[in-house]
Amino acid sequence: MEHRNYIGGDWVEARSGKRFVNVNPATGEAIGEFPLSGEEDAHRAIESAKRSFPSWSKVPVPVRGAIMGRFADLIAARKEELARLVTGEMGKILSESRGDVQECTDTAHFAIGESRRLYGRTVPSELPGKRCFTIRKPIGVAALITPWNFPTALPCWKIIPALLSGNTVVFKPSRETPATAARLVELLAEAGVPAGVINLVHGPGEVVGNALCTHPDVGVISFTGSVAVGREVGTTGGRLLKKVSLELGGKNGQIVMDDADMDLALEGVVWGAFGTTGQRCTATSRLILHEAVHDEFVARLVDRANKLKIGNGLDETVEIGPLVSEAQREKVHGYVEVGKQEGAELACGGAPYTSDECERGFFYRPTIFTDVTAAMRIAREEIFGPVLAVLKVANLDEAIEVINDSQYGLSSAIYTRDVNTAMRAVDEIEAGVVYVNSATIGAECHLPFGGVKASGNGHREGGWAAYDVFTGEHIVYVDYSGRLQKAQMDTWETA
Ligand code: UN1
Repeated sequence: MEHRNYIGGDWVEARSGKRFVNVNPATGEAIGEFPLSGEEDAHRAIESAKRSFPSWSKVPVPVRGAIMGRFADLIAARKEELARLVTGEMGKILSESRGDVQECTDTAHFAIGESRRLYGRTVPSELPGKRCFTIRKPIGVAALITPWNFPTALPCWKIIPALLSGNTVVFKPSRETPATAARLVELLAEAGVPAGVINLVHGPGEVVGNALCTHPDVGVISFTGSVAVGREVGTTGGRLLKKVSLELGGKNGQIVMDDADMDLALEGVVWGAFGTTGQRCTATSRLILHEAVHDEFVARLVDRANKLKIGNGLDETVEIGPLVSEAQREKVHGYVEVGKQEGAELACGGAPYTSDECERGFFYRPTIFTDVTAAMRIAREEIFGPVLAVLKVANLDEAIEVINDSQYGLSSAIYTRDVNTAMRAVDEIEAGVVYVNSATIGAECHLPFGGVKASGNGHREGGWAAYDVFTGEHIVYVDYSGRLQKAQMDTWETA
């Protein structure tokens, strides 16, 4: 099937006429052809968004909320169709894809509520006859650049609050998941988002993403992806003084203390490390085990990992789908080789997975390394695949030291039955998100989401916090005293 860009309400070819093909990572089959857009396509989309801003930003917020309500209904009615599209494009298993799509409906429902809040503050003045308050205004054109691991949820985390706030949007999805992105945009248009308010441009990040980050008419950029690209986006956008929200990588750790519920901790790490084939920025890639439980826990974990069913995510009995691409599989395997060279012990996996049905897909076996030390690259670098590094510690102090010994700080987990231990972890772990007795993955859309250190630049997605990214707080002073009053200089005498 041939797809196009969506600019100013029209489905249009890239100016160059060039195309790229997207393949199903489980079967290697082509899914569709998409425009390989260039700078001029991105510029046209920005112009269209800019032209549409004055009218869209004047639409009352609850009216925009009602459009998001219709979008939620459309998504809910097409949940299965969208989930199958997600699995077909990037490989995650169907039950996870349904969760991915559910997050869009949930995010839109939150937006309906927010459309009747979007609060500013009313504040007393230091002077008589004067009132101070703040109002939220949209920023302008929002450039939204999204990855492939959550092909519906992450675009919706950005598009929904951006639009509800009154911005107009240029959306640049990953080249791995363009069909899902196109479907989302069709549904937004069907829900009543006017022509020009949402624009879609497919193509390479180095070209299209860069054109968005360097254009003076883009006011806010929201990017989710790797640290390397995030640095580029932040530097380029920052030079032009744009507002830039970056959601980047992680090297998330799960701590298991000796008093933990071991069955629960085991399920948590299997889900955190191997769910989505390890391709989440919140995936568990370090398991930090108390020495008293280490050997038995590892034995049970390896046994579980070896039994996970690998295959095409459309098969409901499959637990692990493919990696997104051959390039990603090569990267993951490269890290496995590094781990072996560094002296870590390969406890299971460590190789691509093949079977008759999986012959042409990019499958990889769940992989566990033990005897990992904090200095090894497999304990420090984001792999984005089903590779878990196990580190042994003697006590909580050491566990916290190890988990914090990372350039990243996105998600984390601790399993313990002791509330004092849990609360110390909450206080001392350097991560945006801490889970107690639950895996490192599974953020809920009505709470803020984001990390510290190299995992981002301090902004948050999700919940009310996303609206801080997509609005500016404007400040209003009304002086009804009828005279010139001077803040900081006039004095008030009490009788
Ligand atoms: C990501 O991996 O980019 O908490 C985001 C989770 C998901 C979001 C992950 N709801 O795992």
